[in-house]
Amino acid sequence: FNVPVAVNEPVKSYAPGTPEREAVLETYKEMFNSKINVPLYINGKNIETGNTRTMSPPHDHKHSVGTYHLAEKSHIDDAISTALEARKSWSLMPWEQRAAIFLKAAELIAGPYRAKINAATMMAQSKTIHQAEIDAACEFIDFLRFNVQFMTDIYMEQPESTSDAWNRVEYRPLEGFTYAVTPFNFTAIAGNLPACMALMGNVVVWKPSDSQVYSAKVIMDVFEEAGVPPGVINVVFGDPVMITNTVLASPDFSGLHFTGSTFIFKELWKQIGNNIHNYKTYPRIVGETGGKDFVVAHKSANPEHVATAIVRGAFEFQGQKCSAASRAYIPTSLWSDVKSKVIKDVKSFKMGSPEDMSNFITAVIHEGSFDKLAKYIDQAKADANAEIIVGGNHDKSKGYFIEPTVIVTTDPKYTTMCTELFGPVITIYVYEDDAYADTLKLVDETSEYALTGAIISKDRYAVTQATEALQNAAGNFYINDKPTGAVVGQQPFGGARASGTNDKAGSAQNLLRWVSPRMIKETF
Ligand code: ALA
Repeated sequence: FNVPVAVNEPVKSYAPGTPEREAVLETYKEMFNSKINVPLYINGKNIETGNTRTMSPPHDHKHSVGTYHLAEKSHIDDAISTALEARKSWSLMPWEQRAAIFLKAAELIAGPYRAKINAATMMAQSKTIHQAEIDAACEFIDFLRFNVQFMTDIYMEQPESTSDAWNRVEYRPLEGFTYAVTPFNFTAIAGNLPACMALMGNVVVWKPSDSQVYSAKVIMDVFEEAGVPPGVINVVFGDPVMITNTVLASPDFSGLHFTGSTFIFKELWKQIGNNIHNYKTYPRIVGETGGKDFVVAHKSANPEHVATAIVRGAFEFQGQKCSAASRAYIPTSLWSDVKSKVIKDVKSFKMGSPEDMSNFITAVIHEGSFDKLAKYIDQAKADANAEIIVGGNHDKSKGYFIEPTVIVTTDPKYTTMCTELFGPVITIYVYEDDAYADTLKLVDETSEYALTGAIISKDRYAVTQATEALQNAAGNFYINDKPTGAVVGQQPFGGARASGTNDKAGSAQNLLRWVSPRMIKETF
C-alpha cells in the first residue's frame, strides 16, 4: 500500500501585496458582481428544476449573487436510483483509482481552485480570508489527502493466515447508498462527508446546507473535474423534510453522515428507527452535532494566555465553529487582568465585510441566527445576574452583524452558560480560587454537550484534576490552548453526549463506519 505521504497543506498568508491576496479579491469581486445559477447535480448532469431560491451574502443580504434550484421528490428518487446504478461499477473500481481521484481533487483545490473556493466561502459563509483559507483550502485538502492514508491503514489491517488457510478481509462499501447532510460552517466538512464515503466505494446523495450552496457548487465542480464518475455523488437542494423523508424511506438507504444541529440529528435517528424494518441492512449513523465548549482557567495560569484562548476561541468566524468557546470559568485572582485584556482585544477588532481584509469579525450566517443571538444579548442586558462587559450591539440593516459580546454572570447555570447560541457571544463565570475542584465538577454537570474544552494552567496537578474530572465532557480536550482549530492528521475531531457519535472526523475510525468487511477464508 504505497500511497503519497499525507502532509498538511501550508496556510498561505494573504498579506498585502501577495499574489494570493490579489487573486482571491479579484475572484470575490467577480462573483459578487455576477449572478450564478446553481442546478441540482444528478447522474453527472446539471438539473434545472425552475423552482429557485436567491442566494445572498450574509454580510450584504439585500444583494443577490444568484439562484439555486430546488428539488421535487422525483429528483430525489432519481438521485437514489442513479447512485445505485453507479454503485455497480464504483464499488468494484480498484481502490487506487478512487484514491487517485480524491488526491487529484486535493491538488485542484491546492492550485487552480484555491482562490475560487476561498472566495466562495468568504461570500456564502462570510468567512474572513484567513478563516476561509484554513477551512476551504487547507482543512479540505488535508481531509482528502489523509483519508487516502487512513484508507490504506484500514485495508492493511488483516488477520493472520496459516499454511492451510488464507484469511483475508475485504473492506467492501456499504450495500445500498449513503446520505450526507452537511453544515454551513465548514466548507471542508461539507466536502469531506460525501468524499470520504465515496472514497471507501460508496455512492452518495448529498444535501448541503442552504447557507452554503455557493461553495458546495465549487466543491462539486472540483469533484467532477477530478474524475468522480456520474452518479457517485449527487447533490440536491430543497425542502429538507421532503428530501430526508424520501431518502430515509428507501430500503436501500445504508448510512447517514451528518454534521448539523443536535435536534435534527435526533429527529433523523428516530426516523431511521421507525423505518428499521424496511431497510435491507442496518444503516450506519454518524453525526457531529452541537457544542457548548468551555475554557477553564486555573489560578496558576498566565492571564494573557487565558484571555487569548477566550478571545480566539470565542470570536474567530463569529463563534460559529462547533468547537467555539462559549463559556469560561476564571478564578477571582486572575479576573481583573483577564478582563482588561479581553476587553482591549475585543475593542481592537474591526467588523464588516470579508472583502475588507482588515476586518476580523464579519456577519453571522442568517437572520434566524441573528435574531436568536440578539434576543439572548438583549435579555442579558435586562437580567440582574448578567452584565455585558464588552460588545452587545447588533445591526441587521445591511448584513447580520453581531458585535463580539462578553457576558459575565454570577450564576454558573445562567441561560447563556448552558444554551448553545452558535455566535460571537461568550459567558464568563468568576469562581473563588479555592473552589477549583468544585468548579470542575460544575463544568461537567452542566456539559449537556461534550465536544471541545480547554484547561489553562501552569500547575501540573491542576491539569491532571481537570483531565480526570472532565473526561466525558469533551471529545477534544485542549491543555493550554484554545478549544478550536483541530488539524486533520493531528487531532481527529468529534465529541459525545449531545455533540455526536464521536466517530472522529479525519480518522480511520470514521472511514471504518463506511465499510462492511467481508471475511474470506480460503483453503487449497
Ligand atoms: N475542526 C474544527 C475545529 O476544531 C471544527 O475548530
